[in-house]
Amino acid sequence: METFGAALSEVVERLTTANVFCGHGYESIHDEAVALVLGAARLPPEQTRDLLADPFPERAVARLSELLRGRCEERVPLAYLLGEAWLAGLCFNCDDRALVPRSPIAQVLVEGCRPWWRPQVAPRTVVDLCCGGGSLGIIAAHVFTSSVVLLSDIDQRALSLAHENIQRCAPNGRVHCIMADLLTPLAPKSIDLILANPPYVSTIEMHQLPPEYRYEPYGALQADEEGVALAVDLLRDATRVLSDNGLLILEVGESVEALERRLPKVPFTWIDLPSGGAGVAAVSAQELRDWSAAGDL
Ligand SMILES: C[S@@+](CC[C@H](N)C(=O)[O-])C[C@H]1O[C@@H](n2cnc3c(N)ncnc32)[C@H](O)[C@@H]1O
Repeated sequence: METFGAALSEVVERLTTANVFCGHGYESIHDEAVALVLGAARLPPEQTRDLLADPFPERAVARLSELLRGRCEERVPLAYLLGEAWLAGLCFNCDDRALVPRSPIAQVLVEGCRPWWRPQVAPRTVVDLCCGGGSLGIIAAHVFTSSVVLLSDIDQRALSLAHENIQRCAPNGRVHCIMADLLTPLAPKSIDLILANPPYVSTIEMHQLPPEYRYEPYGALQADEEGVALAVDLLRDATRVLSDNGLLILEVGESVEALERRLPKVPFTWIDLPSGGAGVAAVSAQELRDWSAAGDL
């Protein structure tokens, strides 16, 4: 393993042979191998191809094999081994207090939630509901540079990680943590934009997940038998909490059909996600009010 190129080839081969699952922030074995090699050498992700010909540092060899052991034998997600994860160009602290940040809602946020966010001005208030380590709300604070953002979760451990991420990468003073069960403590019409990635894995799906998911908090993944109970509760309460021109962006992953079966009259707009992922809907406050007025709540 004389060069970075040689280290990369070896890591690709080891990850492939171990048949690791790459759904935790990396789209392919190659992407994950690059992150693993750079992580072993403690180098940032912005590198040129010239690095491939550089000598792989002697001091990084032991760390590389430790990372490979954790990843290939124990199947720990790489972000937990490295203690950090990248999303939308930001680097977050990451450990088993919360899910590895990877929500496709990040793709919607970097586009300013256009065209679903219609007002010319940025949302004044944003809630990252079921925030885990807080990545989505913190990205929102970077995109909407005047918004006040609440990171809300029911789990104190997740919130302690979110708090660290505020210290690490949130713009000063505009991002705050609250412990809450869904939207319960929020005042009527107080929120312009709700970002919600609640637990939505159904009981059947839970049994079929690759081993990597065992390291993530159980309560961050499983909802109920069908996977949509929390999404249904929050849709009902979002009608109360959203301001007149408000917007809900909701992720339910593979549970789209179950949610549409449960609430057939909600006019979900399922967003096309060019960088991958599925099951993210936009619903405006007006659409929720119309649904509520039709007595379908
Ligand atoms: C799928 S994770 C999402 C984490 C984060 N938003 C992300 O994208 O990485 C779901 C989160 O919902 C939280 N949660 C579960 N039930 C909740 C509830 N009733 N109210 C608020 N948060 C809840 C869990 O603690 C977990 O952190």
